Amino acid sequence: MNTNIPFIPDNAPFTAEQRAWLNGLLAGLFAHQTAPVAQAESKPSHRIAVLYASQSGTAEGLARKLAKELKAQGHQPAVSTLVGYSPAALAAEKYALIFASTYGDGEAPDGVQPFYEELCLEHFPRYERLSYAVFGLGDHHYENFCKFGKDLDTKLAALGANRLVNRVDCDVDVEEPLARWKEELLPRLLDSAAIAKPREITVTASVATEEPAPSAAFTRDNPVLAPLVDKKDLTHKRSTKTTLHLAFSIEGTGIQYEAGDACGVLPQNDLNLVAEILQKLRFNGNEQVQCGKPESVTLHDALTHHLQITRLNRKMTAEYARQGQCGPLLALLDPKQQPELDRYLYGRGLIDLLSQFPGVIQTPEELVSILPKLSPRLYSISSSPLAHAGQIHTTVAVVRYSAHDRERGGVCSTLFADRASISDRLPLYIQPNKRFRLPSDTNAPIIMIGPGTGVAPFRGFLHERRALGARGKNWLFFGERSAATDYLYRDELESMLSDGHLTRLDTAFSRDQENKVYVQDRMIEQSAQFWDWLQDGASVYVCGDASRMAKDVHSALQTIVKKQGNLSSAAAEEYVQTLKEQHRYHRDVY
Ligand SMILES: Cc1cc2nc3c(=O)[nH]c(=O)nc-3n(C[C@H](O)[C@H](O)[C@H](O)COP(=O)(O)OP(=O)(O)OC[C@H]3O[C@@H](n4cnc5c(N)ncnc54)[C@H](O)[C@@H]3O)c2cc1C
Ligand SMILES: NC(=O)c1ccc[n+]([C@@H]2O[C@H](COP(=O)([O-])OP(=O)(O)OC[C@H]3O[C@@H](n4cnc5c(N)ncnc54)[C@H](OP(=O)(O)O)[C@@H]3O)[C@@H](O)[C@H]2O)c1
Ligand SMILES: Cc1cc2nc3c(=O)[nH]c(=O)nc-3n(C[C@H](O)[C@H](O)[C@H](O)COP(=O)(O)O)c2cc1C
Repeated sequence: MNTNIPFIPDNAPFTAEQRAWLNGLLAGLFAHQTAPVAQAESKPSHRIAVLYASQSGTAEGLARKLAKELKAQGHQPAVSTLVGYSPAALAAEKYALIFASTYGDGEAPDGVQPFYEELCLEHFPRYERLSYAVFGLGDHHYENFCKFGKDLDTKLAALGANRLVNRVDCDVDVEEPLARWKEELLPRLLDSAAIAKPREITVTASVATEEPAPSAAFTRDNPVLAPLVDKKDLTHKRSTKTTLHLAFSIEGTGIQYEAGDACGVLPQNDLNLVAEILQKLRFNGNEQVQCGKPESVTLHDALTHHLQITRLNRKMTAEYARQGQCGPLLALLDPKQQPELDRYLYGRGLIDLLSQFPGVIQTPEELVSILPKLSPRLYSISSSPLAHAGQIHTTVAVVRYSAHDRERGGVCSTLFADRASISDRLPLYIQPNKRFRLPSDTNAPIIMIGPGTGVAPFRGFLHERRALGARGKNWLFFGERSAATDYLYRDELESMLSDGHLTRLDTAFSRDQENKVYVQDRMIEQSAQFWDWLQDGASVYVCGDASRMAKDVHSALQTIVKKQGNLSSAAAEEYVQTLKEQHRYHRDVY
């Protein structure tokens, strides 16, 4: 140790963190006054903002892990979510390391958009003092791979901030790219003048959690083959829709999950559709093709297990159109025609291109090269590991529709409905959702809003709380089309209500009367009670449809807060924002 530099003794009235920070400060202040030898010995210690934009917790886990490492190196990391964070706070930092995942159509995770929008309003560069690095998380199966990380990185550079190292755009395997990013980054933090020359790297790599659970052994690249042990309709046969309850055995696999997690399923396409495509192209299916795996597979296998054949996107349509010089399609690819193109793509799949514009694909390789990968489908787990040991339950709405003179179905939900039988083994893995957890205080009240399949995690929560002997009050808002045909888990929910485990159960059956009634209407009807529960410290959870329901429920929550709290719109918004910051408002929407 350099004895010329003063330091804060262990018994000084500071926390370990404050002491480390002050010692770092003193080291910095006194380093230049000491002899050259002593200078070489002292390690710079910086305050470093470690920020994350995360929805299901991967980016958050990585941020926290990195912060621990930085602390061990003598830095003072300050971990924060970008939800509720402000560009002004960022401008006050000297170092920021940002883990950013992407959602929706290449957007920021839930709640991070306001930060980004505000950042985009910053018209002149004010970030020259800031040195930063972005680690992007995403999934290359999505069209806009890691887009939010890319946008954030580009924006910060445009605002004058210094990029410490090149951004990494990381797929589901995180460990190796993270190690490489850190290897380049950490030495730079010792050299405050360091600025990297920008060059983007894209790597494909496995989700690392802070403390890998045994289930981490089963990933999307190495799923467990779990036998289906129960499958029943939750909707009546007279219903206008089908929703299924499924149970998979994970007995003896070592898989662990928590209530609130989701499970990923690797689906397979309908074999009849695969056969129709092969026939149309006059391939026999035994042709060997490469499709992103080291070993080749048959074309039949590729179309069944690895490639998306039921939906079209702009990229593949463009490739098909260019290859076949298909005039009408090329015209739709004009950026000005995007709404027309969207209308054309909606409800169509590969089979429609092959029928409408035949003769374009000549070889199996050409076919494989234009098709996107078939991505896993996620389902909120509707069981509790405590109450349903050795099993994972899911609640699945079956997607069926008729479009362009053909009956069509969702790949995975129709696999469950039509092509999977009891004891069939399906490839699945756990997708942790660390942001959607029961409160650690088992006495805290919870309000759950879950219409349709949104009820899934709440069934898990209710069973979990019962198994834990939790005494906190439970309130569920459930909605569906009709009570007679679509009341999912009716017996279970009503029995929980009658024995008092469910304190309140409010239902909204949208099609049982002339005018639609939705869960948010019930929330508004119960405004006073809802407010009382919030005042008693209740956490609010929302799950289900993202396109309309989640937005409407959010505004209902704001209306309740505004009215019952006698607040202005801005103050009500702030109240809801505080709920989020206190981890008392959680959304799992899709
Ligand atoms: C975190 C998360 C949790 C989820 N939890 C659940 C859950 O608990 N239960 C559940 O059921 N689902 C859940 N989902 C949705 C689920 O992952 C699948 O997206 C859903 O089952 C559809 O998958 P699929 O393979 O059956 O359909 P796909 O093959 O993916 O087809 C769906 C697509 O079909 C097209 N389509 C659908 N209807 C029409 C129509 N009328 N006209 C034209 N085109 C149409 C649309 O392009 C749509 O995107 C969740 C999703 C996420 C991200
Ligand atoms: N194509 C298909 O066959 C099919 C089948 C099932 C689900 N899906 C899709 O899968 C997703 C999840 O479906 P799900 O089965 O969980 O149920 P869902 O479609 O979300 O419907 C559940 C309940 O929510 C109601 N609802 C509709 N709009 C709402 C809003 N703005 N606010 C609050 N409630 C609203 C529905 O009423 P109304 O429907 O009466 O308006 C219904 O009573 C949805 O995105 C849905 O589009 C498609
Ligand atoms: C509903 C949904 C939408 C997603 N959209 C994208 C996307 O558009 N682009 C992308 O690269 N990744 C996308 N992803 C993948 C996530 O970014 C990826 O799983 C990431 O590791 C999640 O990080 P988090 O756990 O910190 O939220 C999506 C994931 C889900 C569940």
